[in-house]
Amino acid sequence: MKTITLIKGDGIGPEITDAVIKIINASGTAIDWDIQTAGADVIETEGSPLPNRVIESVKKNKIALKSPVTTPIGKGFRSVNVQLRKELDLYANLRPCYNLPNVKTRYDKVDIVVVRENTEDLYAGIERQIDNNTAESIKRITRGASERIAKFAFDYALNNNRKEVCVVTKANICKLSDGLFLESARNIASNYPQIKFREILVDNCCMQLVQNPNQFDILLLPNLYGDIVSDLCAGLIGGLGIAQGANIGSDYAVFEPVHGSAPDIAGLDKANPTAMLMSAIEMLNYIGEQDSAKRIKLALFETLNAGIKTADLGGNAKCSEFTDAIIDRLAVLAKN
Ligand code: NAI
Repeated sequence: MKTITLIKGDGIGPEITDAVIKIINASGTAIDWDIQTAGADVIETEGSPLPNRVIESVKKNKIALKSPVTTPIGKGFRSVNVQLRKELDLYANLRPCYNLPNVKTRYDKVDIVVVRENTEDLYAGIERQIDNNTAESIKRITRGASERIAKFAFDYALNNNRKEVCVVTKANICKLSDGLFLESARNIASNYPQIKFREILVDNCCMQLVQNPNQFDILLLPNLYGDIVSDLCAGLIGGLGIAQGANIGSDYAVFEPVHGSAPDIAGLDKANPTAMLMSAIEMLNYIGEQDSAKRIKLALFETLNAGIKTADLGGNAKCSEFTDAIIDRLAVLAKN
């Protein structure tokens, strides 16, 4: 039986995690979950929001499924998510965005993969307070990290039958840092003549995404633009409740939804577990459980097609009801 680290998170984290575990169990795939807690709740007892045991668990098991963890704004501890990605060198943040059945959106046939560099840029949190009225953040970009993520994007394109990689920067203004990211992408693109290469500035990219998202295939971005643009892409397909994600490195992979801990709906049985479930489906594919991944996705799609949806998608199903509906369909699929 495969052992996988399960990071439960906080806010809606525990609800959507429990939902997804129930669904995976119902699919018949046996996984030994190595449950690890992280975030504000463990600081008092363990002195850190990301105790070493969490990192060690992922290092041992190689794969983790993670639900969101709250990060205090403006003060307090550093983001557990950023720290985890850094410690495990999960350099590629992969966020496929495509329409799900019976989820009403402005555009049909959106099928964009956001590939976001995950280790540097303004996200590295290199900041200093110069005086009471001045603060500074350093945007650090290196050739090594930029070429590595560009190679990831092009390899992903090749392996997944995609046609184009579009690099997104603000290299007209951040001429050195974004300029280096762009130059690195150009260098790597020259090794992949079979994949089209395109360049766009991030402001224009946002406008084009809102007006005509179907023109895009794979978007390749530095960390901060990737963070922002992937939420925009989530909005194109129905919102954060359905947007999946994965953080992938050379040795480890952590699958997690794009959204945060949604404190506004935590504990109310209102959260949509789909983003977490879609992330888990990709995790199952990654560990070779394609059959279970396929059945769970089919059961999810059938549930949506039957009009059973959580409030964020305009429905009235609670998180638990939506979960049970998927499990009912899995049972029917197992009999056929
Ligand atoms: P958020 O993604 O938690 O919520 C934004 C909006 O989307 C809220 O209205 C929320 O109710 C809704 N939403 C999010 N997920 C949903 C779901 N599954 N079902 C239904 N509605 C959903 O973003 P916010 O409020 O900016 O961040 C809250 C906390 O989460 C912050 O502390 C932030 O740092 C943290 N965060 C953690 C992430 C992670 O652990 N990977 C990623 C993003 C944010």
